[in-house]
Amino acid sequence: MTNQRVLMTAVGSYLPANVVTNETLSSFVDTDDAWIRRRTGIAQRHLVAEGETTADLAYNAAAKALANVGLTGGDIDLIIIATTTPDNTFPSTATKLQHMIEAKNAIAFDVQAVCAGFVYALDIADAMLQSGRGRRALVVGAESFSKLLDWEDRTTCVLFGDGAGAVVLELADDAGDWGIRSSVLHSDGAYRDILFVDGGPSSNASVGHVRMEGKEVFRHAVEKLASVMDEALSAASMEARDIDWLVPHQANVRIIDAMQKKMGLPSDRVVRTVEQHANTSAASIPLALSAAVDDGRIKNGDVLAMEAIGGGLAWGAALVKFGRPS
Ligand code: COA
Repeated sequence: MTNQRVLMTAVGSYLPANVVTNETLSSFVDTDDAWIRRRTGIAQRHLVAEGETTADLAYNAAAKALANVGLTGGDIDLIIIATTTPDNTFPSTATKLQHMIEAKNAIAFDVQAVCAGFVYALDIADAMLQSGRGRRALVVGAESFSKLLDWEDRTTCVLFGDGAGAVVLELADDAGDWGIRSSVLHSDGAYRDILFVDGGPSSNASVGHVRMEGKEVFRHAVEKLASVMDEALSAASMEARDIDWLVPHQANVRIIDAMQKKMGLPSDRVVRTVEQHANTSAASIPLALSAAVDDGRIKNGDVLAMEAIGGGLAWGAALVKFGRPS
């Protein structure tokens, strides 16, 4: 009996060269290193250079992911970029990436679910490959989130950074228990006012800035992430103890620690990159995954739990047995 499933066979990432520490930030924002570290766990963030765009970040991450699995753009049937900071309102940044990697046969589009963008794009790619839209996909989370920040608002500008991560997905006919085991998404527009951007083409024709009620977002994050993780585990007939690595959205180390405790996982089974990357929105999960694969922590066959929540509110979780059967 064949068991068709979508495998996650490679990952790649890219961070812009410019590193801004909390100390540097404190020279032009009314904040300090101790406050940022204590409340968020963040020590530094990477920010795009003048002229560097989300497509550039996405290209560098995608090129590494493709090289890591020995593929080229021509092998890719589907490209989804999760981003809230596209190069242009249209066309999609994904079509730009498609051209850059010469993926002439690929369907390409962007998904906008803010910090939950990567788990949303993963779910969509999984469904599209399973329904015959192709055999190989690139799912990219890429953000120049610094472009949305109000540098006069210390309650938000210290939290975010820029970067990109990409994964290669491949449909396999005899996958056994490998690949995407479950994926659960939720949205609730009733909470759209606690985390939003005060601009947009149809509201005031501007790009706008991030606005957030931090405490409210924090409360929803812990509650909703725990609940959606339970759903994802149940959908995969798994338990938290079956998870090798929690690879969470990197918004705040206190949210990550709360999830670790709720799941009953040992601390060294959680990938934390928020200290170096800050919150890179849709890019944060594939950036964290890439870091842990590159340093040898995550290995072929490890079971990963991913979760994220962001503006909308939109949130989700996915369980994946990483790599391919050898
Ligand atoms: N530096 C120094 N002080 C700051 C500051 C900064 N960057 N930002 C806020 N403060 C001050 C506030 O003015 C306030 O001072 P006051 O007590 O004199 O009024 C004090 O610190 C506490 O602010 P508060 O907003 O209550 O802090 P908090 O403990 O809720 O932490 C967040 C703020 C943003 C770190 C926290 O709410 C959070 O992480 N929320 C979730 C955010 C998130 O993850 N968003 C993305 C989801 S994808």
